Amino acid sequence: MLNMVFRRHSARPRAAVSLGLGTWLLMAAAQAQQVKQTLNALDSSSGYNREAGVLVAWGLAFAVIIFIGVSGALFYTVQKFREDKNTAEPAQFHGNNRLEIALVGVPVLIVMVLALLTVRAMARLNPTQANSYPVSAVAAQFYWNFEYPNAKVDAAVGNGLVTNGNELIVPVSTKVAVTATSRDVIHGFWAPNLGGQRDAIPSVKKTWQIDTDKPGVYQGNCTLLCGASHANMRFKIVALPQADYQQFVSVAQTYKAPTPAAGSPEQLGYNIFMNGKGGSGACAGCHRVQGTGAAGQAGPDLSFFGSRRTLGAGMWEGADVDANLHEWLKHSPVIKPGSVMPRYDGLTPNYPALSDTEIDGVAAYIKSLRLPETGNYWTKITAAVPGAPVPAPQAARIPPTPQTSASVNGATLPGGN
Ligand code: CUA
Repeated sequence: MLNMVFRRHSARPRAAVSLGLGTWLLMAAAQAQQVKQTLNALDSSSGYNREAGVLVAWGLAFAVIIFIGVSGALFYTVQKFREDKNTAEPAQFHGNNRLEIALVGVPVLIVMVLALLTVRAMARLNPTQANSYPVSAVAAQFYWNFEYPNAKVDAAVGNGLVTNGNELIVPVSTKVAVTATSRDVIHGFWAPNLGGQRDAIPSVKKTWQIDTDKPGVYQGNCTLLCGASHANMRFKIVALPQADYQQFVSVAQTYKAPTPAAGSPEQLGYNIFMNGKGGSGACAGCHRVQGTGAAGQAGPDLSFFGSRRTLGAGMWEGADVDANLHEWLKHSPVIKPGSVMPRYDGLTPNYPALSDTEIDGVAAYIKSLRLPETGNYWTKITAAVPGAPVPAPQAARIPPTPQTSASVNGATLPGGN
């Protein structure tokens, strides 16, 4: 029956399969540059994980004791009461009060001990300590924005808080109080090496503490199915030594986005970014750039875009950022399913079609948005932790217009708007 159905529609499935395979190969190629990062919920560098680890150890200990006890009793009984050894009729009795009380009492006791340990761990982990360092994680389809309530932008250059998209910088050996919320649907914040998974819920703010003693780069993921690119909603946490962290913050507070030179590709991009083309499609409507008039809140903050080493909420990193940036700006929903960023290839109503030169200009402009080297958290972590899993930096120059443009142009994946 299945065969018949398949044969009748064989032309379509084959096309679908090859399209699917093509997309998969594209995706596989896109993942090639990702650095290997270990997700470890038992990473004992985190106080949160150490506390949770105690619970796991108790649970495992009880499980092992019960396993040994039950299987021991089973083997003993089978051995002792084998038929070939016991020809006489067995003792006839009904019930055994002591055994029954033990069989009810011991499990109740175990559950009570585990419950008390759990409550104790919750009481230690959930309240935020007065000296913990506040960070806001704002989730949206499909990216993260991290804000630093303790780091106001210097009044001389702008206003608001220091904010970074998809890359969270934290100091080591510090309780970091993360407050998570969402702009649309429910997302899940999870960076297992630093501990604690929490939902990011619209109009609800949840605060808890994460921490690590070990400087390094850690992987974070969205853990609640939130739409087509749920799996492409990742983030990096860069845990810096405290002095490096302080330096990052003070550099970020006084950072002012550069003004492009007249006639440069950056200036062409700057004009489109701020004003759009033909009166529509300004990037500034959705993105904020510190020290400029761009204050949009619908998309991730781009103030330090040129310093970042991930693109599309961690969908690409390292050299893949440069390889995908042009296609990303041209029509992001084609290469990231469900991306709500408008297309600039003329297929989103009321949004302008940009030429390749114009797109390269926008790329050049956002690449120029770089933290001064004294505040560059990637070079800091590379120096502090040799061998840390650090993605390669973006190229300083504009990438040449990719030759694959034409082949991708026609493709319209589901979720495009
Ligand atoms: Cu956001 Cu899954």
